[in-house]
Amino acid sequence: MKTLKVALLGAGNVGSQVARILLEDSDVLAARTGARLELVGIAVRNVDAPREYAAPQALYTTDASALVRGADIVIELMGGLEPARTLILEAIEHGATVVTGNKALLAVDGPALYEKADAAGVQLSYEAAVAGAIPILRPITDSLAGDKITRVMGIVNGTTNFILDAMDSTGAEFSDALAEATRLGYAEADPTADIEGHDAAAKGAILASLAFHTRYALEDVHCEGITGVTATDIAAAKDAGYVIKLLAIAEKLDGGVSVRVHPTLLPREHPLGAVRGAFNAVFVEAESAGELMFYGRGAGGSPTASAVMGDVVSAARRLVLGGPGRTDSTIEVLPVLPIDAVSTQY
Ligand code: HSE
Repeated sequence: MKTLKVALLGAGNVGSQVARILLEDSDVLAARTGARLELVGIAVRNVDAPREYAAPQALYTTDASALVRGADIVIELMGGLEPARTLILEAIEHGATVVTGNKALLAVDGPALYEKADAAGVQLSYEAAVAGAIPILRPITDSLAGDKITRVMGIVNGTTNFILDAMDSTGAEFSDALAEATRLGYAEADPTADIEGHDAAAKGAILASLAFHTRYALEDVHCEGITGVTATDIAAAKDAGYVIKLLAIAEKLDGGVSVRVHPTLLPREHPLGAVRGAFNAVFVEAESAGELMFYGRGAGGSPTASAVMGDVVSAARRLVLGGPGRTDSTIEVLPVLPIDAVSTQY
């Protein structure tokens, strides 16, 4: 069986979970890809720092550049602009397939990076950059490739959805709901990128680019956050049968598109109105498919690692077979259980 060398850059919440899956589920991954995915190293700033998941110590290195040069697949989960950008460029030049979850980098430099990857004939995938575990980028680029998308509306920031939902259900003011989000670990120590809408705008730029086959960057996205939303606004919306959600909207209009992030009044019965707490959801409208809704966890180590690993498996399949890869990935035949052995209550 072919072996593909995998370099992991970053060992934070998501990187740790990706390392765990690569090491613990290697048989499953081999069955699904037709290749051994060998984790050859994990680039970190401090090799001795405590980690959520401890991979064998010998895998940790501070020499990210050397790791990239020896890899078939590079997974970039460092976040931030540098050194992530330089390392991704090195990986592209070296001909490695790149998987990243770095929405901030893609929002700023996506168009240049996609062009470089295209020119080098290298695959660059980034399902984890938008809405965490939710499979949304591949459905837009692949499943809906024969359709014409007219609008995408996403709750793509869990922190702000948690805050707005808390304000809606308890009547709390913004500052109290933000304090609760911080206490529960949803909001970052500096929550600016979430509450000012910048994180949602980065994701909106990616969604718009894929939905409308045009490369949009962060500067193309009109952005308003939720800091001005008051308990009075929420109560007035509720009285009128609406809910306020922070949406990233990419919409085809006469003569162009609108790409924007702002607090939006939605009828309470709208599918996005039912998205509670820190969950994410993306509502897509397409000419032939009509309305579609994708829902799930938009953040967190394991959920985001799931999206990263989907890209890794897909990349490995292409590297092995030059196509969609194996169709028979059975490693254990699971029997069908009788109905009386199954709970039918949810
Ligand atoms: N801060 C982001 C959120 C994390 O709250 O959704 C995931 O991108």
